[in-house]
Amino acid sequence: MSTVVAITGASAGIGKATALRLARDGASIAICARRLDRLEAVADDIRRAGGQALAVAADVTKPDDMRAFIDATVQAFGRLDVVICNAGFGIYGEIDRVTPEQMQSIMDVNYFGTFHTVRAALPLFRTQGHGHTIIISSVAGKRGIPFMGPYCATKFAQIGMAESLRAELKGTGLHVSIVYPISTNTEFFEVMTQNSGFATRANGPKQSPDSVADAIVRAIRKPVPEVYPYLPAKGLAVLNAIFPGLTDTLTKRWGRKPIRN
Ligand SMILES: NC(=O)c1ccc[n+]([C@@H]2O[C@H](COP(=O)([O-])OP(=O)(O)OC[C@H]3O[C@@H](n4cnc5c(N)ncnc54)[C@H](OP(=O)(O)O)[C@@H]3O)[C@@H](O)[C@H]2O)c1
Repeated sequence: MSTVVAITGASAGIGKATALRLARDGASIAICARRLDRLEAVADDIRRAGGQALAVAADVTKPDDMRAFIDATVQAFGRLDVVICNAGFGIYGEIDRVTPEQMQSIMDVNYFGTFHTVRAALPLFRTQGHGHTIIISSVAGKRGIPFMGPYCATKFAQIGMAESLRAELKGTGLHVSIVYPISTNTEFFEVMTQNSGFATRANGPKQSPDSVADAIVRAIRKPVPEVYPYLPAKGLAVLNAIFPGLTDTLTKRWGRKPIRN
C-alpha cells in the first residue's frame, strides 16, 4: 500500500524535492502552493518518477484552502498518512527596520500556515487512528540568527506548537516530527532578496534540497521527534543551551550579512 502524503509549498525547493523523492518509492502525493503552473509541472514529474500526484492551488494563510487541500487529498487517495507543513519564506533585517506589515505577513505564512494545515489534518488523523505531522522549521528556530529576528520568531513559534502537540499525542499512534534544515540551495534566498530589498550572503555550510528530502523520507519510515538533515547543526542548539553568549558571537560572525556595493 503506497503512502499518502500531503505537502504544502511543493512548487519549489524542499517541498518539491521531497515530493520527487517520495515519488520514487511509489507514494501518492498531494501538493499545494499558490503557483498552479509550477505545481502541475511538479505533478507531471511525480508521475514520471513513479508516484501518483494531485496538484491543488492553495494559500496556506487561508484556513478554508487548507481544509479543501486535505479534503481533496482524501477524496483522491482515500486517506492521509503524512502531512508536511513546509510552505515558508524569509525576510532579512533588524526588528526596528522590518515593518509591522512585513512581520505580519511572515507570521501569516510560516506560523499560521503551519497552524491551519495542522488543524485541517489532525481531526482526520484522530479518526484514522494514525497520521504523521512533519513540520519544516529551521536551525534558525533553535537559535536566533542576528538580523533575522522576524524569520526566527516564526520558526520558534512552529516549534512551540509542534513540541506541545507531540507531547499531547504521545502514546496515541499519531506522530509529530520537526525538521531543522540549515541553509539550503533553493529559491528561498531569491524570495528573501525580493522581500528585503537587498541580497545577503552567509559563510556557513549549505546543503541541497535533496539531502533534506532524504532526511524527511527517513523520518517518514521511522518517526523521530527531531530531524537534523545536517547533523552538526544539532551542536548549535546544544552550544546555545550551555553558552548562549559565545553562541551570540559565533552566529554574528558566521551569520548572514547584507551584500552592499
Ligand atoms: N532554504 C533554506 O535555507 C531553508 C533553511 C531552513 C528552513 N527552510 C524552510 O524550508 C521551507 C521551504 O523553503 P525552501 O527553501 O524550499 O523555499 P522556496 O524554494 O522558496 O519554496 C517555498 C515554497 O513555499 C510556497 N509558499 C510560499 N508562500 C506560500 C503560501 N502563502 N501558500 C502556499 N505556499 C506558499 C512556495 O510556492 P508559491 O510561491 O507557488 O506559493 C514554494 O513552493 C520553509 O518553511 C523554510 O523556512 C529553508
